Amino acid sequence: MPSVHVLNGPNLNLLGEREPQIYGADTLADLEARCKEAAQEAGVTLAFHQTNSEGGLVELIHAARAEGAAIVINAAAYTHTSVAVLDALRTCDGLPIIELHLSNPHRREAFRHQSYVALAADGVIAGFGPEGYSMAVAAAARLSQSRADRSQS
Ligand code: DQA
Repeated sequence: MPSVHVLNGPNLNLLGEREPQIYGADTLADLEARCKEAAQEAGVTLAFHQTNSEGGLVELIHAARAEGAAIVINAAAYTHTSVAVLDALRTCDGLPIIELHLSNPHRREAFRHQSYVALAADGVIAGFGPEGYSMAVAAAARLSQSRADRSQS
């Protein structure tokens, strides 16, 4: 069964309390529940993680790579700053990578308009709030399936 790893970066452990006018009322546990449902529907296994540290995010990317899993990544603030996260994603050659954000960073401050993650991503889902998590898991599952089909033909 294909596997999807959903990786969450700094401050996302405080969802529900943190700037709810931007990020909504759902907690990280609520988002994990949505992802589990989407994974079940799509027929993939799910791993769901959060870390506040840049190195932690790099380690989680390495673990997804070791498993050959598709990656959904909300790198939060590291999206806009981390060459280390970009380099780690670039080691995942051929694995589906979806960049995810609850908000639409392009409607926000200029420093959020730059994304290092986007340089390695197959696609970006942003601005759909919690629903984006379900969308991203479904998209990662579809990409995994179509790559597996292609490598068999
Ligand atoms: C975010 C957007 C980032 O700019 C911000 O630093 C976050 C969350 C989002 O999900 O909308 O922490 O990734």
